[in-house]
Amino acid sequence: MSHVRSRFDKPADELVIKYTTSLPFDWRLYREDIRGSIAHARMLAKQGIIDPEDALAIIKGLVEIELEITDGKFEFKPEMEDIHMAVEARLKAKIGEAAGRLHTARSRNDQVATDLRLYLKDVLTWTIESAKSLQEAFVGLAEKHIGVALPGYTHLQPAQPILLAHHYLAYFEMFQRDRERFTDCLERTDVLPLGSGALAGVAYDIDRGFVARELGFRSISRNSLDAVSDRDFVVEFMAAASLAMMHLSRLSEELVIWSGAEFGFIEIDDAYATGSSIMPQKKNPDVAELCRGKTGRVYGHLMALLTMLKGLPLAYNRDLQEDKEAVFDTADTLLLSLKVVTGMMQTIKVKPDRMLKSVDRSFLLATDLADYLVKRGEVFRNAHGIVGRLVSYCVKEGKTFPELTLDEYRLFSPLFCEDVFELTAGTSIDSKDNPGGTARRRVEEAIAAARTLLEES
Ligand code: ARG
Repeated sequence: MSHVRSRFDKPADELVIKYTTSLPFDWRLYREDIRGSIAHARMLAKQGIIDPEDALAIIKGLVEIELEITDGKFEFKPEMEDIHMAVEARLKAKIGEAAGRLHTARSRNDQVATDLRLYLKDVLTWTIESAKSLQEAFVGLAEKHIGVALPGYTHLQPAQPILLAHHYLAYFEMFQRDRERFTDCLERTDVLPLGSGALAGVAYDIDRGFVARELGFRSISRNSLDAVSDRDFVVEFMAAASLAMMHLSRLSEELVIWSGAEFGFIEIDDAYATGSSIMPQKKNPDVAELCRGKTGRVYGHLMALLTMLKGLPLAYNRDLQEDKEAVFDTADTLLLSLKVVTGMMQTIKVKPDRMLKSVDRSFLLATDLADYLVKRGEVFRNAHGIVGRLVSYCVKEGKTFPELTLDEYRLFSPLFCEDVFELTAGTSIDSKDNPGGTARRRVEEAIAAARTLLEES
């Protein structure tokens, strides 16, 4: 019978053990759990709460257990409720009675909250690094393709010419905001709950500041009830992860569209594409599709956690154990997605000719023609109407703007002169010369600013 069941007359039902155990998934917290326990044991000895010899035996035993787990030699017994119980039971088997002193002035409630925060701090640090690598890939692409023009879209209908670099830098901005959100979340995750006990605090003269320093926490929690029941930091992480996945998913959707034969703007590197089991000619963008698909999983975890939390009275409730699989899967999915998409972007092949062809074909200069008339005295709304009729004429005649004669232009407005033929995608792009615009000069400035931002943070 488990060592926490002395007040019971019989062991737990087998199904109950299966239903309640978190060991099959929370074993992943073993490093954090052992780190936390070592810091706790040190503090207990320093404060004279346990003997230094016992503390030494505990620490030595814990270090060995970590190695056993890392080397795959640790036996995870299914009757153990969770990783915390599994480690403590093993410690008891190794060092005997002294193991029982480790849990002095501690509850699994403040222990698990501490483990989870340690885990998430690591995840957040890796996430911030990975998001930065992806941003670097976008800046690299923007520099490499600075001269390439692309149709910009609204409603997925060709709208106005832009620089491809400008498009890439839009993603740089999204992942900059993501990085800021994760950094912000890290600040609130970086708080030590240990010392809160089960809910009320503990009846020993502990030194929480010491434990915080040992474990690298910036501060200690201020309220024991809140500390053991708070999972806001996990929700924040999942919300920030959902936004980052949404950005990855939008990018993925564009890669799927752009790599399709009808667009042909890019080619995904062979290493990041897959084939078909029946159609030999196929080269499919499965990585992008899976990234788009996995985004739904991450949203689901966020909803699951928010829903799990909404009815919980203070303080700890076992429902909280349900946070584990959600947070692990969110972290795994997000980190892997960031890495694989970064690799895919770094190896992407751009086809500037295909982009330019679309720019020339799609009446993208219609707004520029309206602006042309406005600059010669026409009212914008009238200019809009004139160019609209001009486009309708072209569609009926099967012509593009460059194929029109000046006489044809003048059928629609006497303000059109010979210099209308000087309008190109390039002049259109460079005319968007405001902060945040797609003019080459502005985009070059934006690249330099992005580089500085990456160097500074
Ligand atoms: N496995 C539990 C969890 O993940 C640990 C805390 C258990 N505490 C308790 N009082 N049953 O939340």
